[in-house]
Amino acid sequence: MITAAQEQRFYDSHYRQFLDLPDHALRCDRASLLRDLNNPAHPIHERRKLYEAVLNRLLQLPLARGNVLDYGCGPGEWGLVMAGEGARVTFLDLSPVAIELCLRRAAASSVEVRGCARDASDLSCFPDGEFDLVYANAALHHTLKYPGALDELVRVIRPGGRLILAETYGNNPLLNAARRLRWKLGGQAEEQGEDILLGDAEIDLLRGRFARVEVYPLNFLAMAKRLFRGRLENPLIGRLLRILESADDALLGAFPGLRRYCGEVLVEAER
Ligand SMILES: C[S@@+](CC[C@H](N)C(=O)[O-])C[C@H]1O[C@@H](n2cnc3c(N)ncnc32)[C@H](O)[C@@H]1O
Repeated sequence: MITAAQEQRFYDSHYRQFLDLPDHALRCDRASLLRDLNNPAHPIHERRKLYEAVLNRLLQLPLARGNVLDYGCGPGEWGLVMAGEGARVTFLDLSPVAIELCLRRAAASSVEVRGCARDASDLSCFPDGEFDLVYANAALHHTLKYPGALDELVRVIRPGGRLILAETYGNNPLLNAARRLRWKLGGQAEEQGEDILLGDAEIDLLRGRFARVEVYPLNFLAMAKRLFRGRLENPLIGRLLRILESADDALLGAFPGLRRYCGEVLVEAER
């Protein structure tokens, strides 16, 4: 098992490449996120359906002046979007370079935020119930392996506050095998910390700690998008994926039992 220090080194060196980008490339808000989501050439487009669902949900919440934690924030798009909507955002990441990047991006986006570089298994810098909302994008599956991280996460959410997660969903053995094969063939470093796939067993850990947990799986047949990574600009591929998304709507409506085998998931928990 990798250590937090190894994972930090990996992400520090990954994020360092973005520090020298000019202000216009660092800027981020709701409009730029929507533009990137709808641009098939942008890497984020591959998760368009999941991220549209996340954005819709976040915008339904009373973000303005809410105290929000972007947990395992990485380059911080989501915290920047929420700050642009008036939330008081704190960025948290193991990687100090990620936090430096988020603070630069916040300045370039003309929003005020806080940044905190530390291991999520010790959030003693925050009092109990500090946050109205914790949003973790592709981050909980990294922190779960660190003892105490889940208890700390719950502790800093106020009673009645929310946790929202956007994650890869790990119940489908075929998808999991394909993912692990791709990681192996692609030479993915162990330090990247992708070994845990968040499935129902991990979501059950939340059920024991939150008053309410809702699970919204997305993309079953449409996970075929992974076969076309880097080629989503091709109009034929785009059309095929839209057809698969529509087929998913029909299939998952008719057979709700298949939902747990989807490849992505939005989770909302209320403390
Ligand atoms: C896959 S990245 C996701 C980043 C970002 N949320 C996004 O969507 O682009 C996972 C992030 O979790 C962070 N991370 C990993 N382990 C952590 C820990 N123990 N405490 C805090 N952050 C951690 C990594 O540094 C990395 O930035």
